[in-house]
Amino acid sequence: MSNAARAKIPAAAPAAGMAVDIRNVSHHFSLSGAQLPVLEAIDFSVLPGEFVALLGPSGCGKSTLLRLIAGLEPPSGGGIVADGQPVGRPDPSRNLVFQDPTLFPWATVWSNVATGLEARGVLKQQRGRVDEALALVGLGGFADAYPHQLSGGMAQRASLARALVNDPSLLLLDEPLGKLDSLTRLTLQAELVRLWQRSGFTALLVTHDVEEALLLSTRLIVLSERPARIKAEFRFDKPYPRHRTDPELIELRGRILGTLGIVA
Ligand SMILES: Nc1ncnc2c1ncn2[C@@H]1O[C@H](COP(=O)(O)OP(=O)(O)O)[C@@H](O)[C@H]1O
Ligand SMILES: [Mg+2]
Repeated sequence: MSNAARAKIPAAAPAAGMAVDIRNVSHHFSLSGAQLPVLEAIDFSVLPGEFVALLGPSGCGKSTLLRLIAGLEPPSGGGIVADGQPVGRPDPSRNLVFQDPTLFPWATVWSNVATGLEARGVLKQQRGRVDEALALVGLGGFADAYPHQLSGGMAQRASLARALVNDPSLLLLDEPLGKLDSLTRLTLQAELVRLWQRSGFTALLVTHDVEEALLLSTRLIVLSERPARIKAEFRFDKPYPRHRTDPELIELRGRILGTLGIVA
């Protein structure tokens, strides 16, 4: 798209962060006729613009909680309220980014990022938003590439762009950097903070990496083994960029690992 054409498109209004209330949420699955309790009386609120990390043992129910907040299924008990409205179904304002990039292999990066706008029937008027989202994640030069031509980190950037194109006021991140090599992970951690600071969305990050949670979030919620209950909560209000060698970060990391039952 030419610069002249792009200039006609108003820049997306900065999304304000969403307030999220998780009210006494319980959830179970039915497995071979038996009930599998997954979440138990989960109760917490996230303020607009907060960056909250969710930590917990594998299989405790973290992804399930994010799926409920995304509106992909209703909780068995309790309720979820987003900006004062009960969450009943998925909405582009609440976007979920998964560990696996889940890009359509047959479509270009540009088309993959455009899917949200296309689904809402606004792509024609808002094509410039796709270019903006790609530029935001540093993929401006890869619009015509296909997913198989991307590295793992680039594919995850494309996934992020696909979420950001919707101007989400809540970004739900389910271990988005979990499978990346450590150098790419460090770069993308810094990028996530930059995108969050720039756009002002509320972020809810599931990660198994305590250090990552401490580098990125303002608050950490530790969940128990399944069925997940809230076990502990920590506030970490240090300015960014944070450093993994910061003694306060290291001290808190030790305490959190202790809560998770891991002796560092
Ligand atoms: N659709 C489903 N049907 C039945 N059981 C499920 C389903 N989704 C997840 N589970 C089970 O719920 C538990 C929590 O899963 P999940 O939320 O993915 O955990 P985490 O993300 O913390 O690793 C696991 O025991 C998993 O097997
Ligand atoms: Mg999970």
